[in-house]
Amino acid sequence: MTNLNTETIPFARPSLGREEEEAVLKVMRSGWLTTGAEAQAFEEEFSAFTGAPWALAVNSATAGLHLVLEALGVQEGDKVLVPSFTFTASAEVIRYCGGDPVFVDCAPGRMNMDVRACETTIRSLLKEGARAKGIMAVHIAGDPEFIEDLQEISRRYGLFLVEDAAHCFPVDSADGMIGTRSDAGVYSFYANKTITTGEGGMIVTSNSRIRERVCAMRLHGINKSVWNRYTEAGAPWEYDVIAPGFKYNMNDMAAAIGRIQLKRALSMLDQRKEAVRTYLEILGSSPVSRLLDLPEWKENHAWHLFIIRLKTDRLAISRNEFIEQLNKSGIGTSVHYKPLHMMTYYRERYSLEESDFPEAASLFHRVVSLPLFPGISRQQIERVCDCVIEILSSGDR
Ligand SMILES: Cc1ncc(COP(=O)(O)O)c(C=O)c1O
Repeated sequence: MTNLNTETIPFARPSLGREEEEAVLKVMRSGWLTTGAEAQAFEEEFSAFTGAPWALAVNSATAGLHLVLEALGVQEGDKVLVPSFTFTASAEVIRYCGGDPVFVDCAPGRMNMDVRACETTIRSLLKEGARAKGIMAVHIAGDPEFIEDLQEISRRYGLFLVEDAAHCFPVDSADGMIGTRSDAGVYSFYANKTITTGEGGMIVTSNSRIRERVCAMRLHGINKSVWNRYTEAGAPWEYDVIAPGFKYNMNDMAAAIGRIQLKRALSMLDQRKEAVRTYLEILGSSPVSRLLDLPEWKENHAWHLFIIRLKTDRLAISRNEFIEQLNKSGIGTSVHYKPLHMMTYYRERYSLEESDFPEAASLFHRVVSLPLFPGISRQQIERVCDCVIEILSSGDR
């Protein structure tokens, strides 16, 4: 490569500063580390921010999705529709409950689940007499495309709708914040997400039965939170266990970081948007743009990921070779996603073929996620684009 700048540009990087450091220190010095006043305040602030009646903090989005499905009563033999083109957490939580994921392909030329294929699948499940219970919507890269259609379909067929909004915080819509208009929405605060607590997640819901069940099940199935047991009148050991629950509560150090991140969420989103505009401006106007499908600009998008799709039929190099060359130039990348129907467990358990989901399978061979994080500089983006342009120009057939 002609580019002599050897600085490594990571694929993702959390944006944490003095305020987060001080907030954690305060908790460490307080003597109360587990779920307590910080987690409670984080939930209240999150509920006010999103407009959701209840926000319930957990230690990962995976835990949150599991709790929601459990609260919705998913059990052995139940079918839940889920995209193949997603992270395994979206589907594994259905298996945790004993249910079966029923995979759906991407919409042609898009990354989110195909709504028409989803409806056709629901119809054939119902015709077979299968227990179709619900839909798990996933907003890939932070794009809530098709959510209104999925809301409509879930209502029409009497199915629940859960939003795996791990990538999609904070995104407004005409109808309110994305994640808040379904039975439940779950956000991720994993280290590379749009806001982070290291590890963590938040469930939002307006359903009081989900709220009540989640509150107990996230802490061993105990009917009172540990904070309430120690701060309210009565003996802290006086509690009941209503079910064999889980250990999914968020600790107060994570919550303290989350409260600061929440205050910064909109400004970090603006920084992501600015970075995406820069990518689109440079790559969109370059001669290699005909070798790529770039994401379409959308205002109502969390821009968690910036995923380009190579037109591999016009290139002499594969997606993997393209990534290797970028990595050699110090550019961090990732691939979102190898579809779940191509993963050993799901493929073998449900006898799936690569060709069953042609859109997702074709995407897998073409997608590359480029560096995107709050604070990425224009110079860094220019360097990534220079490398992309140079590699593609030399790989042009
Ligand atoms: C689409 C999707 N769903 C769920 C998750 C799980 O999030 P967490 O790591 O907070 O459990 C992820 C994590 O990256 C994800 O990408």
